[in-house]
Amino acid sequence: MSKQVILTGLRANSEFHIGNYLGAILPMVELQKTHAGKYQVNMFVPDLHSFTTPIEHGKLYQQTLENLKIFVAAGLDISDSDTYIYRQSYIPAHSELTWILDCFAYFGEANRMIEFKEKADKQDNVSIGLFNYPVLMAADILLYGAKWVPLGDDQKQHMELTRDLSLRMNNKFGEVFVVPEEWKEQLKFAKRDNGVRIRSLRNPDKKMSKSVSDPSGTILLSDVPEKAAKKIMGAETDSVGAIHLDFEKQPGVSNLLQISALLDQEPLDKVANEWDGKTSYGDLKKHVARQVEDFLKAFQSSLSKVNEKDLMTKLVSDEKAMNKVANETLLEVQKAVGLRPQ
Ligand code: TRP
Repeated sequence: MSKQVILTGLRANSEFHIGNYLGAILPMVELQKTHAGKYQVNMFVPDLHSFTTPIEHGKLYQQTLENLKIFVAAGLDISDSDTYIYRQSYIPAHSELTWILDCFAYFGEANRMIEFKEKADKQDNVSIGLFNYPVLMAADILLYGAKWVPLGDDQKQHMELTRDLSLRMNNKFGEVFVVPEEWKEQLKFAKRDNGVRIRSLRNPDKKMSKSVSDPSGTILLSDVPEKAAKKIMGAETDSVGAIHLDFEKQPGVSNLLQISALLDQEPLDKVANEWDGKTSYGDLKKHVARQVEDFLKAFQSSLSKVNEKDLMTKLVSDEKAMNKVANETLLEVQKAVGLRPQ
């Protein structure tokens, strides 16, 4: 029997920051390490998703490759023969299947997507692409028969839509799709009962984000390490006067504890216990600033050593292999809906 597929995609519409790194990239790399040999791992860059909201198009192509390099620098083993990396737009079946699924997805269900509403609220001209985002995501998953899709909580609804669509199509046409596992099972699989959300250093009630115009609250992976350390020193804290892990009452301090724990790959509880009750926020900041500085130095050095030629060779060969898989699924669907002879 062929191996079960774990599939993950990380958007490339802006530069990555340490929130992306600690909350998404590292867990993905860990997942590959944990499951190497037993599962097939698909790691792709959803470049077609990148401009569902406005971006600088002139930077997209390079950014996509840069993000793949970042995965490798973070430890993704591209010599593993069960791991496939690819760019969504290099596999036309994604777009093709999206159209077919569109005709079975209901306007009402797509209109209930919270992420759509949140993003639409922030824009003047809302594209149909943004509305269609979750259906393209369903195509990304269903083309490869992926059972396991590790995702953050904000993507739960999209995952449920994917399951609903696959079940609906299977009921109507027979077993055309592998149905991804339920959300509960996904969380267990990814060992992610409490999601990691790194917050802005300046507005710790919000998550760290490149899109908030908040440069001093966000540490980019490309930041000069010493400058990043200064951002930590300038992090917003509170007036409680003692360190406690409490994201409600002390979000700034708790965020620093979280960053510290993740950078040391230690459980958050353990790190929080070490600092609990101490009164010098300055000591905590100095400690985390040093950790961030060291991390960025090491990371940027690994990034500069990534062999681009090897990466491109792997990418091109994986895209060929994945086109084959995706086209096979697409053909089954085309047959099912009557676009191709049975
Ligand atoms: N929506 C995902 C995110 O914002 C990115 C994504 C697109 C994705 N297609 C996917 C993730 C398919 C997993 C599977 O993070």
